[in-house]
Amino acid sequence: MIVTEAVRDYLGASRRDPDPLLAEMEAHGAREHIPIVMPETGQLLQVLALARGARRVVEVGTAIGVSTLYLARALPPDGTVVTFEIDPKRQAAAREYLRRASLEERVELRLEDARSGLAALDGPFDLAFVDGSKTEYSDYLELLLPLLGERSVLVVDNVLMGGTVAEAHSDGSWSEQQIAAVQMLNRRLVEDERLTATITPIGDGVLIAVRSREGAG
Ligand SMILES: C[S@@+](CC[C@H](N)C(=O)[O-])C[C@H]1O[C@@H](n2cnc3c(N)ncnc32)[C@H](O)[C@@H]1O
Repeated sequence: MIVTEAVRDYLGASRRDPDPLLAEMEAHGAREHIPIVMPETGQLLQVLALARGARRVVEVGTAIGVSTLYLARALPPDGTVVTFEIDPKRQAAAREYLRRASLEERVELRLEDARSGLAALDGPFDLAFVDGSKTEYSDYLELLLPLLGERSVLVVDNVLMGGTVAEAHSDGSWSEQQIAAVQMLNRRLVEDERLTATITPIGDGVLIAVRSREGAG
């Protein structure tokens, strides 16, 4: 656990009630053990996209579309979220939820490994959200950083992994390999001179970084 139980419960409860569609998606995730963003992380994504005035967003890891929904709702009507997923069943569920939310025109669902898909994209994107396979995070980042424009926002989920990243040992839910990969990534991102980055204890730990002017980190 990253924060005390009382703080976690307080943060979880400090939001407006989810609309029926989002509540259905959250129940779907819980029922089928599909990892989806925690509500406070989803809300943070929406706040950041709105604050940045984002029009072009790229996401790694659609799953059933919960984070995609938060992001797409923050975009103007001509905005786009390009989102990668490798599991066809999850992507199909995301497509249906986003259709029901009348957001299908704002979302490009790509059924493709992000490691090849990102390499084929043209930037700049205003916001990038990384939530795919934890041991592949550094591959995604390698491809994503050149796609970010000045003052673009990078958001990476699960960077504290229930606290195990700070404690440096596995608790059974995250492997030693995953923990080591994220520890290395956190260090790399906070030290990257092209970024101004901070690690927050929101949700499962969220790293937020802003692409600086070259050398102005
Ligand atoms: C934590 S879930 C994403 C949850 C989603 N962002 C949300 O909050 O609703 C991670 C997803 O990344 C997908 N994934 C894993 N490796 C991937 C890759 N190389 N490219 C694209 N998607 C990948 C998995 O299939 C899984 O559905």
